[in-house]
Amino acid sequence: MSAEPVLRVEQLVKHFPDGRGATVRAVDGVSFTLGAGESLGLVGESGCGKSTLARTVIRLLEPTSGRILFRGADITHAAKRELRAARRGMSIVFQDPYASLNPRMRAGEIIAQPLRIQGRYRRSGGRDRIAELLHTVGLEPGHANRFPHEFSTGQRQRIGIARALALNPELLILDEPVSALDVSIRAQIITLLDRLRTEIGLAYLFIAHDLAAVHQTCDRVSVMHLGTIVESGSREDIYRRPTHPYTQALLSSVPVTDPALRGSRRRIRLTGELPSAIDPPSGCRFRTRCWKAAPRCAEETPELVNRNGHPSACFFAEFATS
Ligand SMILES: Nc1ncnc2c1ncn2[C@@H]1O[C@H](COP(=O)(O)OP(=O)(O)O)[C@@H](O)[C@H]1O
Ligand SMILES: [Mg+2]
Repeated sequence: MSAEPVLRVEQLVKHFPDGRGATVRAVDGVSFTLGAGESLGLVGESGCGKSTLARTVIRLLEPTSGRILFRGADITHAAKRELRAARRGMSIVFQDPYASLNPRMRAGEIIAQPLRIQGRYRRSGGRDRIAELLHTVGLEPGHANRFPHEFSTGQRQRIGIARALALNPELLILDEPVSALDVSIRAQIITLLDRLRTEIGLAYLFIAHDLAAVHQTCDRVSVMHLGTIVESGSREDIYRRPTHPYTQALLSSVPVTDPALRGSRRRIRLTGELPSAIDPPSGCRFRTRCWKAAPRCAEETPELVNRNGHPSACFFAEFATS
């Protein structure tokens, strides 16, 4: 095991102006590390800040504060030239394979684009490299000449993955890579991603909006709620011994088709909407939807510290769900 994590994120903050003078606190103090070849699942409801976190980590967005270290190098505010090296080492697969592939480019050009941007595309060998990448993701060399609309959604996501692999990265950020896919296709893409991780030794930051999606793929899981991480631990910790009420609620809503995951847990229905990231509740941001909430939860912010075996940001962290 290498001493230096591939990725270290410290107290990362990304705020947006909402256009009316207020601040959207999309990511509000997130820390985690990712070791070489490790897979970390990041799970939370839509709007909790997952994509903003992903895009900030890979520096498609400028961080408001905090630190991002890639292989030990601080890239938090790195300028273009310094970022080039990091961009070779980490790449991103987006949720929507329709929106993320240029409809006017052939698959081969799309896959070769990162190589061209980095000045690494060679006329000789370029085609072979494209064919190799297509093969890696389960497509045929002939697919290189087709346009995105000539592929199925699953195939399109395979092209997005091939593009992400073009520069031999160490880290893939997968932003809900299967959420837009049919259930049957979903399983195929997950199997592909699992295989790539073992064969190439990639590290994954695997983002999903439900806990079922990352169960198979992740060594560790962090649960995100309204811009912050509320619980993190090993797969066993999160699925068998969740201590944060929000994690327990997410777990209880995993579809019944996956009884192994849900066990005998009773269904917890979250009442109310995810509160606004512009004006989050004081103290614990989950308290307005929490059945355990006490006056203390409004007055103090529970830190993400070890409670009952692994980090949890709840004063009442315990395994039992009721
Ligand atoms: N460019 C932006 N400008 C203003 N607000 C944004 C922007 N991007 C995202 N947000 C807001 O930040 C919050 C988190 O969004 P996002 O990161 O897309 O969440 P998720 O990926 O978990 O669904 C939401 O409230 C969203 O409306
Ligand atoms: Mg998103």
